[in-house]
Amino acid sequence: MLNKTLQEIVAFPVEFVWGAATSAYQIEGACAEEGRTPSVWDTFCLRKGAIQNNDSADVACDHYHRFREDVQLMRKLTLPAYRFSVAWPRIILDDSGRVNEAGLNFYDALVDELLAADVQPWITLFHWDLPQYVEDQGGWLNPRCVQWFAAYTQVVVQRLSDRVRHWITLNEPQCFLHFGHGLCTHAPGNELSLSEQLTAAHHVLLAHGRATSIIRETAKSTPRIGWATVGHTMSPASTDDLDIEAARVATMSVNKSNLWNNTWYSDPVFLGHYPEEGLKAYGAAAPQWDSRDMEIISTPLDFLGLNIYTATPVRATGNCEWQEAAIPLGAARTTLEWTVREECLYWGPRFHAERYSVPIVITENGMSNTDWVNLDGRVKDPQRIDYLHRHLLALHRCILDGIDIQGYFQWSLMDNFEWAEGFRRRFGLIHVDFESGKRTLKDSAYWYQQVIQTNGQSLS
Ligand code: GCO
Repeated sequence: MLNKTLQEIVAFPVEFVWGAATSAYQIEGACAEEGRTPSVWDTFCLRKGAIQNNDSADVACDHYHRFREDVQLMRKLTLPAYRFSVAWPRIILDDSGRVNEAGLNFYDALVDELLAADVQPWITLFHWDLPQYVEDQGGWLNPRCVQWFAAYTQVVVQRLSDRVRHWITLNEPQCFLHFGHGLCTHAPGNELSLSEQLTAAHHVLLAHGRATSIIRETAKSTPRIGWATVGHTMSPASTDDLDIEAARVATMSVNKSNLWNNTWYSDPVFLGHYPEEGLKAYGAAAPQWDSRDMEIISTPLDFLGLNIYTATPVRATGNCEWQEAAIPLGAARTTLEWTVREECLYWGPRFHAERYSVPIVITENGMSNTDWVNLDGRVKDPQRIDYLHRHLLALHRCILDGIDIQGYFQWSLMDNFEWAEGFRRRFGLIHVDFESGKRTLKDSAYWYQQVIQTNGQSLS
């Protein structure tokens, strides 16, 4: 007799991609080395009080110098895929398009090292480190940004696409637009009006679309292209159909006072138009565009990347209206105060797949925790193990219900610079001592290794 029924045995699709993710600015350090020009984040870190403890990422995990060691750790984990970003300010040095060979050589060597360790590289082209010279000319508000991003994309794809097949154009446009230009808690910290933010967002969408065609036309091996978004995931407060519908509507809703939503970004990309509800909400602040713009923006993609960490429970109040449901007293929270609600990895991908009919990759999911190296040398992070376990089971349930989910990237491979939070938030599978640079695999890393090696069966 089997101990477990077939229903209880967790089996992910054979082709399912297991990975972990990072981004350039958060791990590389070497900010002024080998020609790299400053990014908006270098400038923002100099602003007193902008970053907790006035930390800066000048050194961060020193990955720029230690990448070989880091790849060896990935090999040890038998990590099949690694998502990282290329730093635009390492590659293109000014607005005339001057290319920095040293920057390209770094990523070239990283890709070779990864492939030699049997790790597939997944490249994000933009994870927030806009070159400062672009910002000085208006940043995303300047329509020339679209050409500059296209030129940068062309150079990277030309150089790496003989070995790299997976591309993500932009990471979380919601975050760098809303936090960077609305709330000003992220770089560049420029307070723009709503209509300016929406103009910047339109240029971001165009940049994404142009980059997608460039990858498709230039790549030397058949590419798989996506982009990675974040936004709110609302989950139903009960199993009642009305609550489920309320959660769907809420997940796809637009708040008229800010740019934090899903559909303003993904409707144009996957459906070729801005959402009706958004147009109504933003009214006169909405940007000008024509059908040619929408053709560029909706250049076909192979997958939608979703960065999902939590969900907000909602319930129906009648007439397709919804309201947030109370969060139980003392609910589990991470050190960033994000509530632990694994159903986010069920409802989030499901609602998106239903609306856009596109394969989904979870490009980020994970938690910040109070990890330290124990007296016995181990880093014990049972909360992270439980968090990942719950979320992966929810994701598996989503797959069983027929949603095409092709991969999962844990955020993050290693502890790193958590933007305005500085170094005090640890998201990694690998502990980093930021003083000495020493790496230690956490218990969760060994646990994830088992998940990878059994293709998820160890979750049963
Ligand atoms: C983001 C970014 C990551 C973060 C992670 C934890 O979502 O903000 O993609 O760079 O570090 O999400 O906040």
